[in-house]
Amino acid sequence: MDPHVTEWLNLAIRWVHMIVGIAWIGASFYFVWLENNLDRRKPREGLSGDLWAIHGGGIYHLEKYKLAPPQMPETLHWFKWEAYTTWLSGIALLMVVYYLNAELYLVAPGSGMGATTAVAIGVASLICGWLIYHALCESPLGQKPGLLGGILFVLIIAAAYGLAQVFSGRGAFIHIGAIIGTIMVGNVFFVIMPGQRSLVGALKAGTEPDPTQPAKALLRSRHNNYFTLPVLFIMISNHFPSTYGSEYNWAILAALAVLSVMVRHFFNTRHQSQKYAWTLPAAAVGMMALAFVTSSAQISSTPGGDHAHDEPIAFDNVYSIINERCTVCHSDNPTNPAFKSAPGGIAMDSPKQIQQLASRIHAQSVATQAMPLGNITKMTQQERDLVGLWIAQGASVN
Ligand code: HEC
Repeated sequence: MDPHVTEWLNLAIRWVHMIVGIAWIGASFYFVWLENNLDRRKPREGLSGDLWAIHGGGIYHLEKYKLAPPQMPETLHWFKWEAYTTWLSGIALLMVVYYLNAELYLVAPGSGMGATTAVAIGVASLICGWLIYHALCESPLGQKPGLLGGILFVLIIAAAYGLAQVFSGRGAFIHIGAIIGTIMVGNVFFVIMPGQRSLVGALKAGTEPDPTQPAKALLRSRHNNYFTLPVLFIMISNHFPSTYGSEYNWAILAALAVLSVMVRHFFNTRHQSQKYAWTLPAAAVGMMALAFVTSSAQISSTPGGDHAHDEPIAFDNVYSIINERCTVCHSDNPTNPAFKSAPGGIAMDSPKQIQQLASRIHAQSVATQAMPLGNITKMTQQERDLVGLWIAQGASVN
């Protein structure tokens, strides 16, 4: 497809995805907040609590019913399109960015896997992810939320490890995000909505609602609540090569998931007790520790130590490596057909440009192997070391 068309498709779909995603997560956060802040001290007959709030210059009074009002209101607002459109736009974005250019973005560099196979694995991972998750929740494990949570975590990290073997780092990350996103929207579509429909149906008909439904819906919405923060990190992860570009990317993802679940837990419990107040500072310390651990992993992959005794690397050598491996894309006039202009606005045509980009070049192609994308230009380890050494020596172009 014409790169200009894909760029604008990417833009339009990404924009929509962000907007509806904010609406979904925002509504979800808001209702968790409502639930946690209800005043339950002296509820009016039939209510479980109420609360007062001020926003946008108006004062609101919200009441939560134990089950339902004596008479069902004429309009009852449902929250589902936020979730459905987030998933639909996410899948569309996955196709435009990762599936249309699978050999650049999706396939593990150097693996020789075909684009069709890679896309098939990607699609299968989403479907299997949901089926396995759903089966686990419906099994007796569904009665043991703590154990189930632990098992789900291990399975998701195992999937990250497995996908990282066949996909590029960012391809693996985005698929874990898409698997979790699919589970979240599956929860809304297959469990939470039918549960609410049957509740409302029973109330309207004046019959007893099915008592098993609310418990199932509650488990699924708890999961969705804890899934949000890891998913949001994954959605921005392709800006951070030290996460997806590391050989331990699956472990970094696991650590970030744990930290974000701790943060979510803090916000979920802080209104009831201070028992988990430690989770927020602990997550902050964990984040710093992770930054430290990932930086030492990077340093060890570059030729370290004192470079005073090394032969100075002549810029000409670096220039020809960049010309051969990078400027097919990173040029004002790229020759790679997937790009019409320099990707990310990053052109490396002149020595000056290369020098200015030295630290970013290091992050992308020395510390990690995030670039060249898909290693389509077959950059060797030797070349990475050489570029790294040149940067360590001060990136001189004379
Ligand atoms: C096949 C095309 C292609 C090749 C070859 C390529 N890149 Fe990139 N590069 C991209 C694209 C596309 C982006 C835009 C951002 C993204 O999607 O991650 C990018 C972004 C970048 C960035 C900016 C990332 C940031 O946010 O700091 C740097 C730096 C970079 N590439 C360095 C390199 C280096 C160094 C090489 C050669 C060793 C190289 N690239 C080869 C396609 C390529």
